[in-house]
Amino acid sequence: MQATAEAPAPLKMDLVEPVFPQVCEYAGITLSRYVLEMARANPEQPELNELVSVMTSVERACKTISKLVRTAPIESSGLLGLEEGGGSINVQGEEQKKLDVITNTVLKNALRFSGKMAVLASEEEDAPVGVPDDAETNYNPENREIIVEEGQKYVAVFDPLDGSSNVDANIPTGTIFGIYEEPEGCSINFGDDGTVSDQDCLDATLQSGNRLVVAGYCLYSAATSFVVSFGGKTCQGFTLDESVGEFVLTQPNMAIPTRGKPIYSLNEANRWQWEEPLRDYVTAIQKGDGQTGKQYTARYLGSMVGDIHRTLLYGGIFGYPGDTKNPNGKLRLLYEAAPIAFLMEAAGGLAVGGAGERILDIKPDNVHQRVSCFFGSSEDVEEMRSYYK
Ligand code: AHG
Ligand code: MN
Ligand code: MN
Repeated sequence: MQATAEAPAPLKMDLVEPVFPQVCEYAGITLSRYVLEMARANPEQPELNELVSVMTSVERACKTISKLVRTAPIESSGLLGLEEGGGSINVQGEEQKKLDVITNTVLKNALRFSGKMAVLASEEEDAPVGVPDDAETNYNPENREIIVEEGQKYVAVFDPLDGSSNVDANIPTGTIFGIYEEPEGCSINFGDDGTVSDQDCLDATLQSGNRLVVAGYCLYSAATSFVVSFGGKTCQGFTLDESVGEFVLTQPNMAIPTRGKPIYSLNEANRWQWEEPLRDYVTAIQKGDGQTGKQYTARYLGSMVGDIHRTLLYGGIFGYPGDTKNPNGKLRLLYEAAPIAFLMEAAGGLAVGGAGERILDIKPDNVHQRVSCFFGSSEDVEEMRSYYK
């Protein structure tokens, strides 16, 4: 019998995209309008109204982080350098910058204050944290259980400042986020003091990317870009108009070219620790011996969000492969690879792990688990994989 490839798991939501027959020629389509119209276009999914306030919180946090990153080089801001004179290390053994800690607080507070979050997991937190529901405690204690069961609680995963080692040199950085629903069959129980058990937090957080309801990133560069996918069918790009403080739709329905510009984006210093097929592929495209016959060029920022933004717009391939030193590479599945994979697929690209598996189908068993990964134009990613056969 011939083996058949397993169909990829379907996405969590099947949404109708909003249409915009009328657009103000002066204001354009703002992110807030897009999110509101998404909820209006899908009246049979009332939970989208809850996501509106979650998105408002994420948007607000990203604007604040954009401002912080932009003013950081001004000495009096006191924002550059390491946290606590270099003494602070996160749970993954990485030095924390002041801005890693501050941006984590900004995002965490914004999400907490949305009143819709049950659990948050961040690169800069040792373990997922429960969000005590103050409003419920204060205003409606009897209803808490019901509200949780009605699925109005969300789980957020995020990397508040991706590429933070670059920040002192004014090189682009980003924020990555993903929003899940509280998983089916998992009920988060609040204790009398409003806290949530570690196990409940963990169960809620360890979901595969195909369960995401919204994911996106914000890129802090010459301009601030916000790229988001609601439901995973389309990918929308917005730019911050600083004069009015609003994100405006600038790249509707982003579609990555099937075969990109001849660009590869990998940390080539690791070349001699890579697997041989990957080395052979990169050597071939460097020499112009790949499928296109074109000589590829290298672009690598060391800030994934920037490298991914370019890859979405121009195509090509970006990856952080595992190697003999770090078999699972460097990037974290839950709050880096999975949200980016969600966007990449929504834009028509591919996002695969070290064995060619779909990143969105990988179920994490650890919050800070790393995953070997490749993202990009389908033909480029497939060409790379062909060296493994
Ligand atoms: P973070 O700053 O959140 O720890 O992530 C940095 C990541 C990613 O943005 C980038 O692609 C990669 O690390 C760069 O790693 P190398 O310096 O090993 O190339
Ligand atoms: Mn990161
Ligand atoms: Mn980070």
